[in-house]
Amino acid sequence: MSKFYVTTPIYYVNANPHVGHAYTNIICDCISRYKRIKGDEVFFLTGTDEHGEKIKKAADEAGEDVKAFVDRVGQNFKKLWERLNISYDFFIRTTDVFHIKAVQEVIKALYEKGDIYKTTYHGFYCTPCESFWTDTQIKEAGICPLCGRELEKLEEENYFFRLSKYEDWLKDYLKKNPDFIRPKIRYNEVKGFLETQKLSDLCISRPKRRVSWGIDFPIDDNYAVYVWFDALINYISAVGFAVEGKRFNKLWPADIHFIGKDILRHHAVFWPIMLHALGLEPPRIIFAHGWWKMGEDKMSKSKGNIVDPLVLIGEIGVDALRYFLLREIPVGLDGNFSRSVLLHRINSDLANDLGNLVYRTLNMAEKYLEGKITESSPMPEEFKKAFKGLEKNYISCMDKVEFSSALEEIFKFIGAMNKYIEDTKPWILWKEKKIDCLKAFIYSLLEGIRIVSIYLSPFIPETAASIYRQLGIEKELNLNGIKWGISKEFNIKKEKPLFPRIDVD
Ligand code: MSP
Repeated sequence: MSKFYVTTPIYYVNANPHVGHAYTNIICDCISRYKRIKGDEVFFLTGTDEHGEKIKKAADEAGEDVKAFVDRVGQNFKKLWERLNISYDFFIRTTDVFHIKAVQEVIKALYEKGDIYKTTYHGFYCTPCESFWTDTQIKEAGICPLCGRELEKLEEENYFFRLSKYEDWLKDYLKKNPDFIRPKIRYNEVKGFLETQKLSDLCISRPKRRVSWGIDFPIDDNYAVYVWFDALINYISAVGFAVEGKRFNKLWPADIHFIGKDILRHHAVFWPIMLHALGLEPPRIIFAHGWWKMGEDKMSKSKGNIVDPLVLIGEIGVDALRYFLLREIPVGLDGNFSRSVLLHRINSDLANDLGNLVYRTLNMAEKYLEGKITESSPMPEEFKKAFKGLEKNYISCMDKVEFSSALEEIFKFIGAMNKYIEDTKPWILWKEKKIDCLKAFIYSLLEGIRIVSIYLSPFIPETAASIYRQLGIEKELNLNGIKWGISKEFNIKKEKPLFPRIDVD
């Protein structure tokens, strides 16, 4: 059994979560569930980023005390994860005392090592991105190169972390570890960035007279810790850094950090260097996914174009949303969030192909065999090509985070089963009293559906559990169960169709 430590970014609690945020957690949930059914020991971390100027501003605008504000808005993330069946193991908040202590330990250690020093900062700051920018990084005067909003000019004494000292180390690390940042386009982006710009040291403090909502800078009472420096440390503080050595050594390095492509520089440049300076290994993989867009624009609260996942779930259901987000685009590319494409996907794949297959099969099992099937039968020839393809490709697709391709393979097998029903014409077998043929036919479909529900369980866990329940079987859904013929009997308890067709008009 191997350990698998996976993380989401921690979300700013300045506003409620939208579909873009839900996307990362669904990706992490899918891979966690996959690793669990494979038998790995998973630790899945998510949480909230609760400090910094942006959050203080949002609390002020809401007229609330900032701690009460982050407590309240943070709950909305937890509620959404529950509704989306996100099977996380731990929820970290950067206001947790153990996290604050870990951040302070990191700063003290790096200061003692000589990697932190004080000087005057000249540059620009973007509060919505909570990011520092130098003259050379800015393309259009006064505008944030990341989000296009106005920058604030800053000139103040601050503490700096010596990123530049480790520039060569990072370049070398990237050269030796071409799979460290994925997909390849993001690896090339970071490599290109390091080749064209000299790394400047990172400003890691904010004077308290300006930004008081943050962790106290442990070596100087007049300062708070810069929010990104605080936030990145969550990945180690959550697994016991500096307090639970045994647990930390077991879980670190993280196997994969999933992030959005906009926070690549923080994760692929600052973070590995911070870890290296601390004498720790970098995470094994940083995987940057794309954005969900509305037309040309990234879905975001500031653009006012967000889709509220709770409203959407109320309309189409949890698994339909999870399925759409994981099926529609390969993880790594941008996707256009279109309502008509969403509804079409649900109707064609989930209602027609999967839903009908299950409903029709259970219906036949009840009508022709009184819902009790006790004899197994070999896999029909008609299933073999799609089944073999699925068996061969599923694991490699899932291991490469090619979720959309894994789903395609599953649906090829579902298609083969639907075709088998149409070609066999079971109503004729019934009319001609060929009961043995009918029994073998129905067993094959039920066994195929059972196997499909194991493969689907990381993507649409509620549906997979419902299929198991309706088949009247209780064995755990795991990959040991994909062997054909292990079901000795089925006791059908048909429920209503899994995915009712949605009226597109
Ligand atoms: N707090 C930082 C992350 C710190 S991690 C140590 C942050 N928070 S965020 O709330 O602004 O964004 C969190 C994640 O949501 C980012 O990975 C971002 O890419 C993702 N998304 C926000 N909008 C998105 C879309 N429209 N589409 C896909 N992901 C999007 O950054």
